[in-house]
Amino acid sequence: MNLKTLAKSKIKPGAKVLMRIDCDVPLKAGRIQKGSTWRLERAIPDICDLTSRGAIVILVGHLGRPNGKVVKNLSLAPISKWLASEKKIKNVFTGEVIGKKTTNIVNQAKPGSVVMLENVRFSDREEKDCKKFAHKLAALADIYVNNAFGTCHRKHSSVHRITELLPSYAGSVLVEEVGELSKKMPKPLTLLVGGAKLETKIPLIKVMAGKAQTVLIGGGLALVFHEAATGVPLKMKGKIISASEVKIAKNILKKFDNIKLPIDYVDSNGKKIHAADLNGAHSIVDIGLKTARDFADKLKKSKTVIFNGAMGIVEIAGGKEGTIITTRAFAGNKKVRSIVGGGDTVAFVQAEGIEKKFSFLSTGGGAMLAFLASEKLPGLEVLWKL
Ligand code: 3PG
Repeated sequence: MNLKTLAKSKIKPGAKVLMRIDCDVPLKAGRIQKGSTWRLERAIPDICDLTSRGAIVILVGHLGRPNGKVVKNLSLAPISKWLASEKKIKNVFTGEVIGKKTTNIVNQAKPGSVVMLENVRFSDREEKDCKKFAHKLAALADIYVNNAFGTCHRKHSSVHRITELLPSYAGSVLVEEVGELSKKMPKPLTLLVGGAKLETKIPLIKVMAGKAQTVLIGGGLALVFHEAATGVPLKMKGKIISASEVKIAKNILKKFDNIKLPIDYVDSNGKKIHAADLNGAHSIVDIGLKTARDFADKLKKSKTVIFNGAMGIVEIAGGKEGTIITTRAFAGNKKVRSIVGGGDTVAFVQAEGIEKKFSFLSTGGGAMLAFLASEKLPGLEVLWKL
């Protein structure tokens, strides 16, 4: 099946195109981190193509999870600045999601210009897939283009509901992602998964465990599975692991025997901890060396590797060794089809300077896993050609 795409002939000068992009990139002190921009970079060719044809492009995106509230450090102002300074894409930042100011800016915009709205998740109606809110967004434009693959697994107003209200198309990011992620995956297939966003990943692991020969679990996820396997209550970054996540993990462990958990860990003091000695008092920052080497061996024997989520807290000292060892086991191996996805995961391989050593870097994290698990993604379901 193919996605509906916007024929170039349909773009008339002055046409207003509302483009959903994924702005969820790591920021530090209000600045985009070097090497963390690939999600944004991928949307740029479409923005430039549309403006060069005289369209007015209205960018809609989210950053983080502000839960329907205005959270200053999740503003899209740095993204707007980055587009202007690093990519020479002049744009007017509205400073609000929707409102009179935005309507005026859009109405006065000249053909070929770009307008950027504030973080769409500052409105509590976005995540409710609210039709009234989608109407307000739709009223700004003539055409809708979704270029935010990473958000397609979310049934939100600017991803899903809006497509009922405007002629809607998939941007080149979606087309490329669907093409790459639909390619055959030679076996043995190994899923290397860690990081946070547990509630998104755990149900997907359940499906992926049935497709992959081996599932290697590290990062915060490993602690949930450890608790599920042993019953020892643990904490993740000081947060108690939720009982519902542990319950799902228990069921997964019962059903599948291809799930491999770490046999050792490293804590925030650099101390090695055997998995059997782990308890709620430990502050874990990484998988241990034995685990990393064992995972690396398994990865070397794979023909396809899907990697999403770091093995430890890679932003802090002592937290990235496990991810380095496991990633390097398959990076650059031409015999392995390797797919790396997720904001922080891709940021990590970019920071390590090894991003060109993988078959494909997906802009999706949860969306990539959901697609590979053959789930229906609300943002894609509305854009298939019938
Ligand atoms: C991502 O970072 O995977 C996407 O931007 C989706 O973000 P979410 O998990 O907060 O919906």
